[in-house]
Amino acid sequence: MLGKRILIGICGGIAAYKTLTLIRLFRKAGCEVKVIATRNALSFVTPLTIETLSNNKLYVDMFECGTERTTEHIALAQWADMAIVAPATANIIAKLANGIADDALSTTLLALSKPLFIAPAMNENMYEHIAVQRNLKLLEEYHYHIISPEKGMLACNVEGKGRMAEPKTIFDRVGKQLQQKILVGKKALVTAGPTCEPIDPVRFIGNRSSGLMGFSIAETLADKGCDVTLVTGATYLKTRSQSIHRIDVNTADEMLQACLPYADKADIIVMAAAVADYTPETKADHKLKKKDALFSLNLKPTTDILKTLAKNKTDNQIIIGFALETDNELTNAKQKLHTKNIDFIVLNSLKDKGAGFECATNKVTVIDKNDNVIEIPLKSKQEIAENIIQIVFNTPKS
Ligand SMILES: Cc1cc2nc3c(=O)[nH]c(=O)nc-3n(C[C@H](O)[C@H](O)[C@H](O)COP(=O)(O)O)c2cc1C
Repeated sequence: MLGKRILIGICGGIAAYKTLTLIRLFRKAGCEVKVIATRNALSFVTPLTIETLSNNKLYVDMFECGTERTTEHIALAQWADMAIVAPATANIIAKLANGIADDALSTTLLALSKPLFIAPAMNENMYEHIAVQRNLKLLEEYHYHIISPEKGMLACNVEGKGRMAEPKTIFDRVGKQLQQKILVGKKALVTAGPTCEPIDPVRFIGNRSSGLMGFSIAETLADKGCDVTLVTGATYLKTRSQSIHRIDVNTADEMLQACLPYADKADIIVMAAAVADYTPETKADHKLKKKDALFSLNLKPTTDILKTLAKNKTDNQIIIGFALETDNELTNAKQKLHTKNIDFIVLNSLKDKGAGFECATNKVTVIDKNDNVIEIPLKSKQEIAENIIQIVFNTPKS
């Protein structure tokens, strides 16, 4: 971490005192630290302590005269290698989710194009509030790194989820991101999102995949220096890393055709898309009219993309498949792993609350070729993506 430039945002929550330890950890690791505090944060920690520990001038007021630059907020965003908001109040989370820039911290963060870590801290009822959860989901979609709060005794004297992650946990998580770009020179092919199989010009057969899991994997690989091609079905998600080569498709067949030119050159293939197993035999060229009678549709199987790509797998390639199961989860996932000639399978179960489609969190089980099973508990999809990539690259090839 030596020489890295860390920008820390402190907001008005009790956990602000823990951020002082975080500043020390980064300074001890040889980083340069600059801090922006909200006005409310200064009710919890003092400017003198922050400036002494960070060894830099604290930035609070955008309109303060006599500062080095009048556009210090832009200069700070450009200066930082990455930024952390700890504690992140419900307020800053809402402002970031909605692009509000009404103070030094929120304005600087909007100008930031580097990785941003958010460590929420608040009372459990606040944390579970539908608006806070929606805002956190939006931040996930912006590919910010959410460092989930922990369960424990809260400042309001009740036990619950909402305690800011410990400074060491935040430090380690950021450290992992700062690690050498271990995948420079490697190529990855990632699929994400649903496929849509047209019935007529208006209707299609689709599924509820948002694409977030696949996008999070693609971003994680890109952050580690990998040259990523992302083939995605219809999604409203945007990619953050400019280094990701994105190809948008609709149908399973289009997804297969888009993958083929990249598959044999890829060192790692991650098939996270929810691909239709069947497609209508024919597509009507006009909108089908409703009739007062039973209607049936002939479906034909689509080509199995994972199996097709795995058939030509070379010894140096790593292929990861995803399985979403509703019953006999582990048995079905292991069967898929072995019959498809892949290295890892990531199992999602729809039985798990907060996992699978349409949520910002996930809970998965990773199974390798030797049937070793690693459970990853409920976390943000970005954290799950980081854990999966870590497992894959730390598992010796057999
Ligand atoms: C003693 C005290 C503790 C607070 N702790 C938190 C907290 O942990 N998380 C939170 O979201 N808000 C907390 N608040 C409320 C925030 O300070 C308040 O919403 C404020 O507007 C946040 O402003 P900021 O985001 O600009 O710092 C606390 C307020 C008080 C008085």
